Amino acid sequence: MTTRVLTGITPSGTPHLGNYVGAIRPAIAASRASDIESFFFLADLHSLIKSQEPERTQRSTLEIAASWLACGLDPDKVWFYRQSDIPETTELMWFLTVVASKGILNRAHAYKAAVDKNREEQLDDDAGVTAGLFMYPVLMAADILIFNANRVPVGRDQIQHIEMARDFAQRFNHVYGKEYFALPEVIIDEQVATLAGLDGRKMSKSYHNTIPLFAPREELKKLVFSIVTDSRAPGEPKDTEGSALFQMYQAFATPEQTAAFAQAFAAGISWGDAKQQLFERIDGELSPLRERYNALMAEPEKIEAILRQRGQQLREQFAIPLLKELRHAVGLRDLSTAGDAPKAAVVAKAALPLFKQYREKDGRFYFKLLDGEGQLLIQSEGFDSPRDAGQLIAVIKQAEQGDALQSELFRLEAEMAPVLDALQALREAAAKD
Ligand code: TRP
Repeated sequence: MTTRVLTGITPSGTPHLGNYVGAIRPAIAASRASDIESFFFLADLHSLIKSQEPERTQRSTLEIAASWLACGLDPDKVWFYRQSDIPETTELMWFLTVVASKGILNRAHAYKAAVDKNREEQLDDDAGVTAGLFMYPVLMAADILIFNANRVPVGRDQIQHIEMARDFAQRFNHVYGKEYFALPEVIIDEQVATLAGLDGRKMSKSYHNTIPLFAPREELKKLVFSIVTDSRAPGEPKDTEGSALFQMYQAFATPEQTAAFAQAFAAGISWGDAKQQLFERIDGELSPLRERYNALMAEPEKIEAILRQRGQQLREQFAIPLLKELRHAVGLRDLSTAGDAPKAAVVAKAALPLFKQYREKDGRFYFKLLDGEGQLLIQSEGFDSPRDAGQLIAVIKQAEQGDALQSELFRLEAEMAPVLDALQALREAAAKD
């Protein structure tokens, strides 16, 4: 079986050279491997969380689609589609929502960051936070699970979301008693180049130091010439180390060309000449892509047709049959067949994991949790009273077993975090007095 690799792209703004070098180019190269089936989609539903300007949403979606096609994504070889063209995704999202634990979502970075910011500004925790932001990871899980993707390449900030997708998938499988979903694996490319921007910091929209990927030739030239350098004069040797200009050259050059450029630095090339060479290198790679991009942007109906066609195929081949199965699985069924069902489902309960409570020589009370085979699952801290230990045991017992237990611990940890923070603050305050 081929491995399914799924890449989601949130359409926001115009792509820049950093996106190209760090994400677009490597992803397209990887999609050409023969033993994988690639899924690339425009996460337009996700984009609504951040941007609620209809014209901008439409424009971004078009620009990002044209960019990926112009950079060589082959829509006959990969699945290239639009999230909102697969309405089964949002239906699946609901099935996942009802098994997802809220405590896990509380821990999602994007949501937590919004809450932390509100606290800093002494606002209500959830001021200005939409339920969309909160539910973001569940929609993302649905994107992945609807096509049973095996691998999901993402940036570090997204790892947690893939873990959540695994968690929701496991819970669903557990609750409905069958392996409906494969558990997706995260792929982190440690090599991924982050390109420096005009000012030497990481190229990023938030720093306003980007070079747009398809800037016209003259604008590209102007921007390349505005890259910040040190003040060394022509003839003086230049450092390649820490030079944004050199690093950018490297991202567009072969190792041999890079070595020659390093030589020129050592030999004291002027910054003006170095910039001219860099400009020619980038433009050499990008000008054919720019031409394709402009042609695509002039015929948006072609892009629309590709996306629609692929979306329709995906629905017919995967999404519609899967949702049919899932609807049945959760009990959204033809009522006329109710007579066929067993009167009361007899669910075999697996043996509960075993708790052992005991007292140590230090006089404190402990417990541990052993699984059916006697393997240690949890070792508690010491408690002052057996009652304290018992209370925590009771909470844990309420949780389901196995995978669900893991989620529950995840949730407990999240719930305890503020208590622990508060304790810490009290201790610090006491220490100061
Ligand atoms: N949230 C991802 C991002 O901003 C985009 C995305 C949406 C995605 N759904 C996904 C990525 C599913 C991978 C899998 O980068």
